[in-house]
Amino acid sequence: MSRQFITIEELAKKDLRVIYRDALAPLNDELLKGQGVALVFERPSLRTRASSSSAVQELGGYVTFFSDEEIGLNTRESAEDVARTLAQMYAICALRVRDHDVFARMRRATNDTLSLINLLSNAAHPTQAIADVLTIAEHFAKGDVEGLKGLEVVYVGDATNVTRSLCVALLRLGAHVTVAAPEAYQLRQGGAEDPFNVEGGELRLSSSPADAVRGADVIYTDAWVSMGLEAETAQRRVDFAPFQVNEELVGLASPDVAVLHCLPAHRGDEITDQVLDSERSLVWRQAFHRRSAMLGILGWIKEEHHD
Ligand code: CP
Repeated sequence: MSRQFITIEELAKKDLRVIYRDALAPLNDELLKGQGVALVFERPSLRTRASSSSAVQELGGYVTFFSDEEIGLNTRESAEDVARTLAQMYAICALRVRDHDVFARMRRATNDTLSLINLLSNAAHPTQAIADVLTIAEHFAKGDVEGLKGLEVVYVGDATNVTRSLCVALLRLGAHVTVAAPEAYQLRQGGAEDPFNVEGGELRLSSSPADAVRGADVIYTDAWVSMGLEAETAQRRVDFAPFQVNEELVGLASPDVAVLHCLPAHRGDEITDQVLDSERSLVWRQAFHRRSAMLGILGWIKEEHHD
């Protein structure tokens, strides 16, 4: 049975430990020697495509990129038949998909002989969460992810797939996470990556960004308008205006607060230039750790002697 990286929630603690360890380990440029990894993107990407491609190539492998226009997942051909075909030529397939259920369908169709990596779905963004943890641990705990216990992290804005994976990853390490969002955009229980079911840190919900960030060690934000929701842009700009991460809001947090954003940023909407470009901002280090995260995930998938 091949290993699957679909959500943070479904990984065992020992699996996550290996991923975080391998992310920062010396490069083994023979790990994927001569091996191809299929990259399937149903949605646009910069960081995820760049980090996946560079990590595979640095580990000795090569990538083949498939856009939605070429494959037509569920339009030209069913997800099951795409998976069955790719499994004839690749051992690992990394996908950015619209519908999270595609992963379960592909797993069933291939009897788990093809390792799948979730590069973002409507339910989760787990590769981003691994990078976020690495970034926060590097800044606050000399790289030791176990050192995040008790850290106060506040997510401000639209509670999305990114929020869900971030919460699950941090709560499992004992960090406390507050999600400050307008009620209509707040986290809901259920789904494939459910922060309400995690043992570890405390999850808190707030509708007041000012109250939420008081004393925070980390403030995290993301786009107000996720991919596919462009028709809601005008309404969302109104609804999220009080949730902008600006100097006034950041001034309420801990004096040493760090600011994260998974990017792309919409300067002047969810975050101001002054904050994004400030010394508090870890966003470029966060982008760097997207590659580290992929190295860790690929290392874990290729780990020898596993179940
Ligand atoms: N953060 C992130 O996933 O960036 P891309 O959409 O550019 O890959």
